[in-house]
Amino acid sequence: MAVGVMDIEEGGASLPGKTTFQVVMCSIIAAVGGLMFGYDIGISGGVTSMDTFLLDFFPHVYEKKHRVHENNYCKFDDQLLQLFTSSLYLAGIFASFAASFLCRRSRHVDRLNIAFQLLITVGILAASFVNYLTSTMKNGWRYSLGGAAVPALILLIGSFFIHETPASLIERGKDEEGKKVLRKIRGIDNIELEFNEIKRATEISNKVKTPFKELFTKSENRPPLVCGTLLQFFQQFTGINVVMFYAPVLFQTMGSGNNASLVSTVVTNGVNALATVFAVIMVDRLGRKFFLVEGATQMMATQITIGALLLKYLHLVGPITSHAVPLIVLILICIYVSGFAWSWGPLGWLIPSEIYQLEVRTSGYFCAVAMNMVCTFVIGQFFLSALCRFRSGLFFFFAVMNVIMGLFAIFFLPETRGVPIEDMAEQRWKKHWHWKKYFKQN
Ligand code: BGC
Repeated sequence: MAVGVMDIEEGGASLPGKTTFQVVMCSIIAAVGGLMFGYDIGISGGVTSMDTFLLDFFPHVYEKKHRVHENNYCKFDDQLLQLFTSSLYLAGIFASFAASFLCRRSRHVDRLNIAFQLLITVGILAASFVNYLTSTMKNGWRYSLGGAAVPALILLIGSFFIHETPASLIERGKDEEGKKVLRKIRGIDNIELEFNEIKRATEISNKVKTPFKELFTKSENRPPLVCGTLLQFFQQFTGINVVMFYAPVLFQTMGSGNNASLVSTVVTNGVNALATVFAVIMVDRLGRKFFLVEGATQMMATQITIGALLLKYLHLVGPITSHAVPLIVLILICIYVSGFAWSWGPLGWLIPSEIYQLEVRTSGYFCAVAMNMVCTFVIGQFFLSALCRFRSGLFFFFAVMNVIMGLFAIFFLPETRGVPIEDMAEQRWKKHWHWKKYFKQN
């Protein structure tokens, strides 16, 4: 992640430092956190498609899956099976709420979160690869699920090696101790510039004793609040987690064998990671709005095509009537996933970190995270049941959502590239045709 990026620009100033053991440890821990989140996203779909897992835990789903005359779209429709995937995100809502209080003084959120998205995609890719390897082993699902313990263990052990952050010490009035830790982390003596920056940020956020109240009641916080949370709502309603969670199940629904469906999933997740690298490189060059609109258009077009193909070729019962269709759908899913990975994926996290005033930034960001978790839960919990009821129509629903979010990006989202947080209101919100009404006219 941030290893090697040692001249940190803050408020226009460059903060010097060396790559110390502490910096490396913190970077590893943050990286492993991203990988673990990705692994958890990617692992459940493959596991739920494994026969040995279904036999042990969901024998009725196993039986439905192999019943010749069962409705193709309903083979995996089971609330408990979906809860196996979705429950993680309910837990995530509570954890992120706690984090919103702990992280009020952490200022480099924006820089880190696009790298974090990349790590999530690598974690998802690793999970699909593990699923592919374990699927032929006896009780392979045990290894797949057990694999999640590896990053968790690294986090646990790593946490013994890192110091309390200077920001949290400074916030509690322990300035000297904070400076000592800062010197150790940076590996240099002259940390005054950074210390002053942290002190300033701490003072700003300390001014607001009830950040959530401030966020919800002050009218000038309304535009970033609405945009930040809607971005995450839309991010999930691109339908991305239909693919991330249920791609193996989806490929099996189209008649692919166990192995082929897991290979296809590795391919789509590989595309996801690669396209995210592209986003990391390009997002500051072409701007946020361009990618949001382009991504939504690309996803909408592929979803309409997938919906139409399923409508024509995947009938209620019996195998798919064209052998080329699963391959074409795989290619379309790759195009769809790349559209997400260079747009709403990273930007759904990046933009909310750029648009709030410093005082309410963490609580505002929490609202975006909470929206992500709630919607991820909803998609995880209901997609397979919705697929059973609405069949190919579900893909048209997501296509319509992509049209709506593209229009939202065009008309309601200001371009945030290169605008310092401090100037966001003056340079963007106050000049926006719709959002300007939330600011008192002087
Ligand atoms: C989303 C996840 C999704 C992942 C896919 C993230 O930005 O929040 O829900 O699974 O991207 O790469």
